[in-house]
Amino acid sequence: MNAIQAEPGTRLIVALDFADADTALDFTRQLDPAQCAVKVGFELFVVAGPDLLSRLHDLGFRVFLDLKFHDIPNTVAAACRAAARTGVWLLNLHASGGLEMMQAAHAAVRETNDTTALLAVTVLTSSNARTLREIGVQREPADQVGLLGALAVQKAGLDGLVCSAQEASMLRERLGPTPLLVTPGIRLEQAGGDDQKRVMTPERAIAAGASAVVVGRPITRAPEPARAVETFVRRLGSPR
Ligand code: C5P
Repeated sequence: MNAIQAEPGTRLIVALDFADADTALDFTRQLDPAQCAVKVGFELFVVAGPDLLSRLHDLGFRVFLDLKFHDIPNTVAAACRAAARTGVWLLNLHASGGLEMMQAAHAAVRETNDTTALLAVTVLTSSNARTLREIGVQREPADQVGLLGALAVQKAGLDGLVCSAQEASMLRERLGPTPLLVTPGIRLEQAGGDDQKRVMTPERAIAAGASAVVVGRPITRAPEPARAVETFVRRLGSPR
């Protein structure tokens, strides 16, 4: 049983895609940490830094720090150690950085903070077969996702993956019930998804094997974000 399956408020992660700390904090104060966690990405972290993470923690929220590290093993391990010290709940890197990089990062996180889980991004959902060929990868995206997912979870011992909901059932089948699978691209209706090309409903994502979903605009741009959170929480069902 992992932290996402065991605890309330961990199935929904709201993406704080805002340009500054005050806007992000004012928005987050409308939410309930018993119902959702929050995600801080590049833009907000570059602007607001670790101080924002402390303030989100002070409000009682679990934080997914979505910085997708990718560098030489020593540098990524140091970044992961520093991030784990801030007390974030989830942290991620690019599996394409290789096994040695992931093993170094995993060891750094484990020796720093028992409660931080390290996830890998396999192939970005913006990539297709042509994008992969451009960088010398001749495999289909789904095969590359499977290969990198197995490398991250089974060989490097990472806690899970960030993946599209479309990939979740294939990854569950290959990797079993334990790894966390965190899926963005979630919408309440199957059609229409801002700039997301392939979207899935909360129910279908969970049925496909997702442990948690990341939702941005359907909540951040809702007229009543707290009500939108309640809808997503209800439709995600309770953790097993
Ligand atoms: O607004 P929306 O629900 O599309 O936001 C999704 C969030 O998940 C954004 O922060 C986006 O960067 C992130 N994400 C994604 N697709 C991925 C990986 C991350 O949409 N493959």
